[in-house]
Amino acid sequence: MAASTFLLRRLPLCVQTGKLSRSSYPAFTTLRQGWSRSHIRPSASLYSTKAVDLDQTNKPYYITTPIFYVNAVPHIGHLHSAVLADTFKRFHEMKGRKAIMSTGTDEHGLKIQQAAAQAGMKEIELCDTVSKRFQDLFDAANISYTTYIRTTESRHAVAVKEIWDQLLARGYIYKGHHEGWYSVSDEAFYPSTHVEEKINEKTGEKYHIAIETGKEVEWTTEENYKFKLSAFTDKLTEWLDNNPEAILPKSRHLEVQGWLKGGLSDLSVSRPRSRLTWGIPIPGDDSHVMYVWMDALTNYLTVTGYPWKNISDSQKAVCGWPADAQVVGKDILRFHAVYWPAFLMAADLAVPKKIVAHAHWTQGKMKMSKSIGNVVDPFTAMQEFGTDTIRFYLMNDGGLVDDADYSSELVAGRYKKLLAGQLGNLLNRSTSVALNPSAKVPKQPSADNVHPDDKALRKKLEALPGLVDEAMANYRTTHATQAIFDMIAEANSNFTHCEPWKLVKDPSNHNRLQTVLWYAMESTRLATLLLQPIMPTKTAEILDQLDIRKDERSWEHARLGQGWGKDAESRKIHTGTPMFPQIKLNNK
Ligand code: MSP
Repeated sequence: MAASTFLLRRLPLCVQTGKLSRSSYPAFTTLRQGWSRSHIRPSASLYSTKAVDLDQTNKPYYITTPIFYVNAVPHIGHLHSAVLADTFKRFHEMKGRKAIMSTGTDEHGLKIQQAAAQAGMKEIELCDTVSKRFQDLFDAANISYTTYIRTTESRHAVAVKEIWDQLLARGYIYKGHHEGWYSVSDEAFYPSTHVEEKINEKTGEKYHIAIETGKEVEWTTEENYKFKLSAFTDKLTEWLDNNPEAILPKSRHLEVQGWLKGGLSDLSVSRPRSRLTWGIPIPGDDSHVMYVWMDALTNYLTVTGYPWKNISDSQKAVCGWPADAQVVGKDILRFHAVYWPAFLMAADLAVPKKIVAHAHWTQGKMKMSKSIGNVVDPFTAMQEFGTDTIRFYLMNDGGLVDDADYSSELVAGRYKKLLAGQLGNLLNRSTSVALNPSAKVPKQPSADNVHPDDKALRKKLEALPGLVDEAMANYRTTHATQAIFDMIAEANSNFTHCEPWKLVKDPSNHNRLQTVLWYAMESTRLATLLLQPIMPTKTAEILDQLDIRKDERSWEHARLGQGWGKDAESRKIHTGTPMFPQIKLNNK
């Protein structure tokens, strides 16, 4: 049997039945060394790693997703983190800023070592296979990442070694004895106060779980390297006190401040090689392997070209650090809001500007997870409903604060009511041949003497860009879509109220009909423009139909009356196949 066929048979069914084929696997070594799409690889003269040395004038907007564990194939919750980051990257590009986005896979640690052993595979085979699956997903979902990082890449090992050396040189790492509860699933140590004893009802055996995550823990006692996390309690507190919006949503910010109140204990940052072989060796001590979270968190620096040695001034300006926003699920907040900034402070590097913690997708009100077996396959979902429908559903229903329960019926409902029933309907109305046989853009009505029927809609159109901007500044896509669809609903109901199908019958109503059509078309244009970061493909098709040029799709055009420029009269509105045709659920 060919090696790759053998490999696929051992993976979960959804990997086997997905888009993977033998031909999609280049040799593993090729994959590891050179498959990232693009990344910044500085070279030139050496300079200090101090954050202040980085020129921030032309710094691109830099947003990250967590890097995904390769012990299981992606589910819809993983896709959520990626769509969220992609939406903000696209939004900032729309506003005219250069933006970079990183994503990738977290490939080291006991969890992966054990998953590979269970599948009877070499660790790197598992990593290559599942990492490719994540990348395929992100490509299929139109995630416009600029760097796909894998922690098994050599460029990452360089960054990890550097951060270790910096922490060691500054006296923040020491060798110590550690006793405590370790959860392989969470890859985290827990103090006894965070652990609960349980009894297996079938066997009567006792076991222990971490209260926070419900994951099993085991008692470990070992020699390892420790990071002086305790030395950063005050600095972290000061950072959060002075930057009350550093962590979104506010409730999470307060939660982290609460964790700091009790003081922090030092953190184990290595595991003995006798327990963990699959990882980056501790520089200068091969008998220890780097703690997987220290390894993984450093990926955010790796993609910027850290340690920024041999780098030219112009490259310094575009390296991106510090990140403008780091998107994480609420389950990994402690690692990103406590450990990560502490490592950065210890290395004298700037901390991220914002950490955006989103809530979870549940299925049957339980967090999706491989072990519970309640995961939704994102490939199937996108095949069934279309990529942009799923992107829209995730951004419309998946919030920062409350968990959302995934349901195919709800996806279909949003499609039917909002996308087809509201946006699609407004588009059909604006491009109706019966009402507008010339297919020209109607004349823009004057802002003075607004017809009483149009006043409420006009007010909504004027306010919309500001509302969306505010929602996006607070990383609330749900608020942005709500404002957009609120305006569309008003536009539709005003259209119905104005009865253009009656106006068209009497030529003396020509001017009023033009105005009614203009408002419908302008509302469609504005809504579509603002939905671009969430639904990049569908919106491009709609804007093409409205004959909006590519250079008229940026933020400055997302204003009432900033559409078809001076040559509006020469534009041609197109009607084509319905933008949101009826869909049938697979199982119905
Ligand atoms: N490898 C770590 C992250 C290291 S970052 C330096 C990890 N990986 S993960 O694969 O378990 O999770 C990756 C992301 O997916 C996290 O943000 C996590 O919150 C998110 N999700 C995993 N399950 C989820 C849901 N059910 N719903 C929404 N997002 C969830 O943690």
